[in-house]
Amino acid sequence: MIEYIPMTETHVAAVAKLDEACFSMPWSEQAIRSELTNPLALWLVAVDGETLVGYIGSQSVMGEADMMNVAVDPAYRRQGIGEKLITELMARLKENSVYALALEVRASNESAIALYDKLGFTQVGRRPNYYRKPTEDGLILKKEWEV
Ligand SMILES: CC(C)(COP(=O)(O)OP(=O)(O)OC[C@H]1O[C@@H](n2cnc3c(N)ncnc32)[C@H](O)[C@@H]1OP(=O)(O)O)[C@@H](O)C(=O)NCCC(=O)NCCS
Repeated sequence: MIEYIPMTETHVAAVAKLDEACFSMPWSEQAIRSELTNPLALWLVAVDGETLVGYIGSQSVMGEADMMNVAVDPAYRRQGIGEKLITELMARLKENSVYALALEVRASNESAIALYDKLGFTQVGRRPNYYRKPTEDGLILKKEWEV
């Protein structure tokens, strides 16, 4: 059974490894670790027993959250884990009176865009050449809810 729980020090190395496997400009392990003591941050992990299979990171200011990243181990994709990470994050943010979640996604990232679309995110902007390696536009998506 997959569990969705707040990230702790025990997960940091595995989160950094998955981040490096999934993104061309990964967060350093130290940057991920510093989120554990960042009062604005909420990161969740999906674990299958001792195995880390996904994570999601966010930072919130004045009731609005930004999703820093979300990723699922390739061997565990298309099982609803990415969707559950986002809905679990939104539920926990709501408990903290957060009413909106925004994120950037590469314009070519069809699987992630399909996931955000399924969850009711809408495009509110576009940042030309926002990403590097390769250079690409970023779409800004957002979802709001009642608190
Ligand atoms: C995006 C990502 C997190 C999705 O995780 P996942 O656990 O495979 O997603 P889920 O199984 O929860 O999928 C939920 C929905 O998203 C959409 N989706 C997910 N992967 C898809 C794909 N490859 N093609 C089309 N739609 C997809 C579907 O609508 C799916 O619902 P369905 O299974 O009922 O059709 C995963 O592909 C990933 O880690 N990608 C690499 C990292 C990344 O790009 N992160 C986003 C950065 S902005």
